[in-house]
Amino acid sequence: MDKKLDKYIREHSSPEDKVLEDLYRQTNLYVINPNMASGHLQGKTLEMISYMICPERILEIGTYTGYSAICLSRGLKSGGKLHTIEVNDELHEMSSRYFALAGVADKVALHIGRAQEVIPALPFTFDLVFIDGDKREYCEYFNLVFDKVRNGGFIIADNVLWGGKIEDKDALKDPQTRGVIEFNEMIRTDQRVDKVVLPLRDGIMIIRKK
Ligand SMILES: C[S@@+](CC[C@H](N)C(=O)[O-])C[C@H]1O[C@@H](n2cnc3c(N)ncnc32)[C@H](O)[C@@H]1O
Repeated sequence: MDKKLDKYIREHSSPEDKVLEDLYRQTNLYVINPNMASGHLQGKTLEMISYMICPERILEIGTYTGYSAICLSRGLKSGGKLHTIEVNDELHEMSSRYFALAGVADKVALHIGRAQEVIPALPFTFDLVFIDGDKREYCEYFNLVFDKVRNGGFIIADNVLWGGKIEDKDALKDPQTRGVIEFNEMIRTDQRVDKVVLPLRDGIMIIRKK
């Protein structure tokens, strides 16, 4: 994105609040692959979408340091809950600390484990699901959560443009790129859902279960 345009967009969007700013900085200083955190504009977009839907229950696959979980949890209906799943138990301390600092600890249930094992054991229906785990597993996550999403509910998938590699034939050797391409194709041909791809950050796909 053009730098001037990016600056303009940021100046005309609500600023990142102090807790998220600090979480983003700490993630960049102390955690590997800090570019995985949603960050300001994507975080704000997720927050807005959550406010629009006003969900009672959200499921997130891939907590990382908790940035997107905090944003999504803000739009929950009073008494609602966000269930977030993270396989890396070393991130537990940091995300939990920031859930408390952001004042959302009572709205967030953090599950440590593989999504493939945690999801079947969750006895809930979800209004909104955010898929942001391992790109090789996106199809698996979608198939696992589909029956748990209410009719008219939403699934948002992150990184569906995968740095533009989805158009690069050579990148097909990379299993993560293959995972994203297979997911996008699976959703494209799935008549049970409406979908739109937005060119925000690394591409997000909004999917609505009909
Ligand atoms: C892109 S990061 C998530 C970023 C976070 N949603 C945000 O926007 O701030 C992906 C996370 O998914 C986790 N992950 C990968 N495979 C997983 C699985 N099978 N089950 C649960 N978490 C997984 C990784 O450990 C990593 O922390």
